[in-house]
Amino acid sequence: MSDNRIRIFDTTLRDGEQAPGCSMTLREKLRVAGALSELNVDIIEAGFPAASPGDFESVKEIADRNFGPTICGLARCNPEDIRKVYDAVKGADNHRIHVFVATSAIHREHKLKMAKEEIIRSAVGAVAMARELVDDVEFSPEDASRTELGYLAEVVTAAIEAGATTVNIPDTVGYTVPAEFDELFRYLVDNVPNIDDATLSVHCHNDLGMAVANSLAAVSAGARQIECTINGIGERAGNCSLEEAVMAIKTRAEFFGLETGIDTTRLYPTSRLVSNITGMHPPRNKAIVGENAFAHEAGIHQHGMLQHASTYEIMRPEDVGIAKSNLVLGKHSGRHAFRDRLVELGFALDEFETNRAFQEFKKLADKKKDIYDGDLEAIVMNAGGASSGPWTLKSLEVQTHTDEPATAAITLIGEDGNEVSDSAHGDGPVAAAFQALEQVTGVELVLKNFELHSASIGEDAQGEVTVTVEYDGQSFRGRGASVDIVEAGTRACLEVMNRILRRGPRGATDPGDGESTRATI
Ligand code: KIV
Ligand code: ZN
Repeated sequence: MSDNRIRIFDTTLRDGEQAPGCSMTLREKLRVAGALSELNVDIIEAGFPAASPGDFESVKEIADRNFGPTICGLARCNPEDIRKVYDAVKGADNHRIHVFVATSAIHREHKLKMAKEEIIRSAVGAVAMARELVDDVEFSPEDASRTELGYLAEVVTAAIEAGATTVNIPDTVGYTVPAEFDELFRYLVDNVPNIDDATLSVHCHNDLGMAVANSLAAVSAGARQIECTINGIGERAGNCSLEEAVMAIKTRAEFFGLETGIDTTRLYPTSRLVSNITGMHPPRNKAIVGENAFAHEAGIHQHGMLQHASTYEIMRPEDVGIAKSNLVLGKHSGRHAFRDRLVELGFALDEFETNRAFQEFKKLADKKKDIYDGDLEAIVMNAGGASSGPWTLKSLEVQTHTDEPATAAITLIGEDGNEVSDSAHGDGPVAAAFQALEQVTGVELVLKNFELHSASIGEDAQGEVTVTVEYDGQSFRGRGASVDIVEAGTRACLEVMNRILRRGPRGATDPGDGESTRATI
């Protein structure tokens, strides 16, 4: 690999998935892993196998599918964690073990209660063990940005000597600033005698909003791998955003003199996939993938753009995979146009799924004149949810009146084809509809979060609802979409209820269909 090629290490499925509300089922993780390989990331950090059996299974399943990129798993510096990563990732042609231990004084004293030498011994032992199992080993000194420089250089030197092929420098708490991080990387380049024997990597968190800037400072100072996530999701304020770092390197190629292997036209579809799955939608003004990122409202800008796009546009929407016009289909569009657009959006559906989604599309086209990409995504993300039964929503009627409880009447169709109806009151139409659903299905959920998002534009846009609920001590997320937002919420809730009923007693069925695979350690 040439010296100006930056490796993109995507940790959406590990650090990203750790963020509250971002946990994913196995099926969702496989979808994301497939999209990341189409994006052509170099490494996918698929999870933390020792965190839970579900995490182990999902890393293993992703590795066994052999999507193409190197598959990596995270381990603490102990033999059990390292062995688990190895067992999980070994199915992939290219696999990596990533070991970490904290090095800063704060972590040494308050978390690990270990002396400097002990930490070095632990790091060296872990790297050496991992190297006996695989050729590709990454080492991270956690909280590196708050570690004494001399000691950090010592740890890094020892890890490389023990066999680390990548050394990753994390700004774990998002504390550093670009000029300081630039100095830190230059210090390591000048003071770690064996630095050329490993790839230097950067891993930034966004607590002060500088994760991308700090990562770019690091690559300017010699790092050749960026650890990042789609949409910048991750713990607290998130991680370095993949799409922003990649497009900065591409758009300012003359400044950085660097390149990545990313197919940038897959950035927008991948961003949409992750936000649809997690229900975490980037703000409209988010760089690169926000809905306004390429919208020019001011008259003077529009005038300039009409004269020549480069007056106000430094990137073209199509470079990041945003269609020039996303008004795609209408009532008279056929199956071919429908399927072609889904493929362009990155959805690989089988015949059965395509048919089901096409039927939903036709129903929607009867209610709504113009169908946008967001509407298609909402259809695909919801096909396979509530419609897989056992219960299907036949009808919903709600009544609201100021200062009075709302009433909802629902009719569901069961697996046996029988209809069951019930009604309930609630503080609002959504609460009433949820209560009525609980009465019919017998599944009682605790609603933790209800998020409403517009799937496309215009007055008749579909509302997309993501609910996070708790059942039996576990967290579930459900999605629903409709031009009627109460119906969207009802569908989201029914989707979760159906998943709970399908899986039977706890954990009895396909983990891909049920709850998040993650548990905290
Ligand atoms: O932020 C961090 O320090 C990490 C390490 C495990 C790389 O995520
Ligand atoms: Zn991190």
